[in-house]
Amino acid sequence: MAAGNFPERFLWGAATASYQVEGGIEDCDWAEAARQGRVPPCGNACDHYHRFEEDLDIAKSLGHNCHRFSIEWARIEPEEGKFDEREIAHYRAVLQALRARKLEPFVTIWHFTLPLWFAQSGGFERKDAPEIFARYCAHVVGKIGDLCTHFSTINEPMVYVSNGWRRGTWPPFRKWPFIDAFHIVRTPGENALNPRAVTQWKNIIRYITVFHRVARAHNAAYDAIKKIQPNAEVGPVVNVILFHADRNPLNRFFAWVMNIHWTRYFMFLVRGKYDVVGLNYYVHHKFGDTSVYDKTDMGWEVYPEGLCGALTLIARYKKPIYVSEAGVADAQDRIRASYIRSLVRCMRLSIEEGVDLRGYMYWSLLDNYEWAEGFTKRFGLVDVDYKTLARTIRPSAYVYKEIIERNGGVHPVR
Ligand code: BGC
Repeated sequence: MAAGNFPERFLWGAATASYQVEGGIEDCDWAEAARQGRVPPCGNACDHYHRFEEDLDIAKSLGHNCHRFSIEWARIEPEEGKFDEREIAHYRAVLQALRARKLEPFVTIWHFTLPLWFAQSGGFERKDAPEIFARYCAHVVGKIGDLCTHFSTINEPMVYVSNGWRRGTWPPFRKWPFIDAFHIVRTPGENALNPRAVTQWKNIIRYITVFHRVARAHNAAYDAIKKIQPNAEVGPVVNVILFHADRNPLNRFFAWVMNIHWTRYFMFLVRGKYDVVGLNYYVHHKFGDTSVYDKTDMGWEVYPEGLCGALTLIARYKKPIYVSEAGVADAQDRIRASYIRSLVRCMRLSIEEGVDLRGYMYWSLLDNYEWAEGFTKRFGLVDVDYKTLARTIRPSAYVYKEIIERNGGVHPVR
């Protein structure tokens, strides 16, 4: 153990996702939704596709030793069953750039966006979606597996399915009846969800079907990847909303049910099909809690301490864990440094309790396209000026750098 009780080989870095930073992706479901005016356009985003060397130099200069990024499915498989070798070459170049900088790569094979041909033919509503997805994953790993061992198949299945088939805020914009009323009661003062979503009772069945299908897609991808690269370290990335409660037994019961619903049921569906778990943490909900919290720019309660409970929730699966995302939208860089410190405190406590936690990737390296929120929310360690595309490192990024230099060690009181 090194200073601060983090293992010597603990990995520190940041994460991005292809559609959110690369720019120039036109043949995916999100780009199509933007053309229809249903979500904000993404355009050139941060132009990371062309500037990845510069961005990885920044990550390196900030002391990072790992980096998580995603592959854009629409680039790799622009037509069903046809794979684009030039795009494979692009991602190989990214991986080589990471290796040259001694940044351990973590590849997410699919992070929310679908190629248009797949989305328009039904996407995960297609019965054969698991096979299609597994074929894509196997292709990617077959082509880049010599440069990377850490693969996640699917990013945040629950977020994907909830936004697409329950709240109707993301493609394919399917909404449950009464979900708006529920949303407004829970978050007073907020507008209704996407008014252009299609509301149908059938969407409840679709939601359940798609959720199970996404889990099956992960399982099929896991088998396909392990077949061609048995040493690959493969897992899903799950978003953990921490549901907890005051001492009231009924509230505790609600929290228990909600953790099963949001996190544990998916982990049950993919049992036996993961070597590691990627944990993303942003949001908590405490039943029976009347405290007033500071809010992030997303309107989420500032509660980084919830990572402690989220880690406990995932530790039960007895696999190595990476915190593959946790961070804060904070345009003024007001709370980011203390938020990161609190996250690190939770990680340290978990490790001391024996959790096999191996790394942390701050979300995000750069400001980026925050899905239905467009470019308005700034999660980056690095500010991006979307007009000039100039990058400016925020002060909190240097605080994170110091933490990394101490390998998570506690700062002496100054
Ligand atoms: C996603 C990211 C997103 C972040 C902040 C996670 O749910 O993986 O794509 O930008 O949260 O909302």
